[in-house]
Amino acid sequence: MIDGALPYLRCPVCGGTLARPVERALRCPAGHSFDIARQGYVNLTAGRSPHSGDSAEMIADREAFLAEGHYDFIAQALAAAADPADGLVLDAGTGTGSYLAGFLDAHPAAQGLGIDVSKPALRRAARAHDRAAAALADLWRPIPVADASASVILNVFAPRNGPEFHRVLRPGGLLLVVTPAADHLAELIAEFGMIKVDPDKAGRVAGALGAGFAVESTSRQRRALRLSAAETRTLIGMTPSARHVPRDAAGTHDVTAAVDLTVYRRV
Ligand SMILES: C[S@@+](CC[C@H](N)C(=O)[O-])C[C@H]1O[C@@H](n2cnc3c(N)ncnc32)[C@H](O)[C@@H]1O
Ligand SMILES: [Zn+2]
Repeated sequence: MIDGALPYLRCPVCGGTLARPVERALRCPAGHSFDIARQGYVNLTAGRSPHSGDSAEMIADREAFLAEGHYDFIAQALAAAADPADGLVLDAGTGTGSYLAGFLDAHPAAQGLGIDVSKPALRRAARAHDRAAAALADLWRPIPVADASASVILNVFAPRNGPEFHRVLRPGGLLLVVTPAADHLAELIAEFGMIKVDPDKAGRVAGALGAGFAVESTSRQRRALRLSAAETRTLIGMTPSARHVPRDAAGTHDVTAAVDLTVYRRV
């Protein structure tokens, strides 16, 4: 539902507050108007976005794979990384909204907002949780939310905009970043030629965020997954390696899932 997020949203054209005078649009006092899609997400891009994000096929595979529960350990680590949160929890690059929904379940006083550039993703994210709103917005542009309005930002396998995350987080707020560890899905990379992850990613993330964030903790979350052939195809299909999906991944596959969760505090 958009309504719970309205106090935090800002007009992407003039920065004004937004209200919902009619069912299917938000408007600012200056008259800029933004459509709410039938599926419930609001389009807060001012003009066209050069990015279209994950495709419908990738999002369908992501939804199917996450529903199997293989990555629930990531959702649990995220939920446990913050003290009980109130106010706005922004999920930057939300995908299907599954991690945001898990976080909101564990933080009953929080209001969620998932942003993404992928319309197929937002169709799901808009329905992911009663307390989650969804907005089409490009993370490489100013994020259409008020200064110092978010208590927590989630960022899971998605782009990061350090200056904007800093502006949007309230002082002392948390940025929870999940990046793949060096051996994440290593068996699938070896067997099917999936695109390999840059092993230095966590270090580069910290550098790119800038001086306004202090690392509070880093933890590695690791699981040994045993996947069916169908699950293996679905997992590859939800990644940028979708074109490497094997037609003949018969039998079960033992796969390492390994991610780094870094908790940054906004200073
Ligand atoms: C690998 S997916 C991760 C999605 C979700 N966080 C999850 O882990 O299930 C990356 C997401 O970032 C989105 N994305 C890519 N570029 C973006 C941008 N410039 N602005 C907003 N979202 C973007 C994609 O559409 C996709 O949904
Ligand atoms: Zn405006």
